[in-house]
Amino acid sequence: MLTGKKILLIISGGIAAYKCLELIRLIKKQGGAVQVILTKSGAQFVTPLSAASLSGEKVLSDLFDLTDETEIGHIELSRAADLVVVAPASADIMARMANGLASDLATTTLLATDKQVLVAPAMNVRMWEHAATQRNIATLQGDGILFVGPDEGDMACGEFGPGRMAEPAEIFNTIDTILSEPPKLLTRPQSRLEKRQSLTYPLTGPLAGKTVLITAGPTHEPIDPVRYIANRSSGKQGYALAQAAYDLGARVILVSGPVNLPLPEGIEVLPVETARDMHDACLEELPVDIAICAAAVADWRVESPADEKMKKRGKADVPDLELAQNPDILRTIANHKTSRPALVVGFAAETQNVVENARKKLTSKGCDLIIANHVGSGSDVMGGAQNTVHIVSQAGVEDWPEMAKQQVAERLMRLLATELQSTDLRAKQ
Ligand code: C5P
Repeated sequence: MLTGKKILLIISGGIAAYKCLELIRLIKKQGGAVQVILTKSGAQFVTPLSAASLSGEKVLSDLFDLTDETEIGHIELSRAADLVVVAPASADIMARMANGLASDLATTTLLATDKQVLVAPAMNVRMWEHAATQRNIATLQGDGILFVGPDEGDMACGEFGPGRMAEPAEIFNTIDTILSEPPKLLTRPQSRLEKRQSLTYPLTGPLAGKTVLITAGPTHEPIDPVRYIANRSSGKQGYALAQAAYDLGARVILVSGPVNLPLPEGIEVLPVETARDMHDACLEELPVDIAICAAAVADWRVESPADEKMKKRGKADVPDLELAQNPDILRTIANHKTSRPALVVGFAAETQNVVENARKKLTSKGCDLIIANHVGSGSDVMGGAQNTVHIVSQAGVEDWPEMAKQQVAERLMRLLATELQSTDLRAKQ
């Protein structure tokens, strides 16, 4: 039920505009109020009179006159609603929204609102798939705008594909979900860890609905019950990546070696100690959409750790530790026969020939990207707050300037979100 809820419905130009009359009817039937803004091109498809008759409110146009502006004011208009819905949302209005334009009443209201905005796109399939539209969608999702549809099917223009506006019933159900408690957050199905910890995940952002698996920190390889082999990894870069992925809307699973970092909120952390534990935990979480191996996994473990603390004996009696190779988690995930993630990313901490070694690693591990960084003497990358990375892919090398690990994480996750969207798009073609 939408009793007492106010929806500001912006109808922009498109053949699907007529479907919004049904949407108004559904909202009203469930007790909601609808204020319609009809853009100039929207008015080519539905008349202000039909929208006004169904909503019971005066329809505002983008050619707003001064009386309306003094009586209502676009700021007040944008804030009086519980939810702003743009349906149909044309490629043009989405482009203007993504760029913060305020060229008519509809876009001025969208720029002024402090309320959640839901967009129901409707356009020709080529326009939908155009790189500019996809870029605008990513921007809008990053801004926290919610989307419903578009659906795939026959289009009014005679083509077939994604671009048809979602049906009024589906838009109505989405409105109902958004306006029910708790706002903006949905609880996802319980996994084994959530039985201990109730998690929510964001509904918005370019990674909404996607799962990202991240490994972070060092591993500890026991020598005996009190001693272990480790490295200087702090886990900071991996934890920052987990936070950045969550902020873009992803469900995040962080498989973490022993670190001294606060547990990030909303993120499923699977604590592990050894490389073999990390390997098993990761494989159990497949399939995922993106896997990022940021952990500094120990290459070797002690073949047979002692059950009791090893005793120091004579001066010359140094224990003979036999080492065994650990499983390569990155390589295993990147070459997984049935559940290879759409994107697999590795890190390469190198002390020399950073980019050259990273290129070799890209091929030998079979991943899509290697994030290479210099960890030699004089660099405080391991444990420090800053990082200078090179993004190595089959397409070439991008050198990023030195920045905080958090900034590296944000930029990298945005890059991966865009890359994943193109991969999804290619898979649909
Ligand atoms: O082979 P190297 O350790 O230099 O490769 C670094 C990359 O491989 C990192 O992404 C690291 O997380 C991953 N790796 C792994 N399992 C290993 C060794 C490295 O996942 N056993």
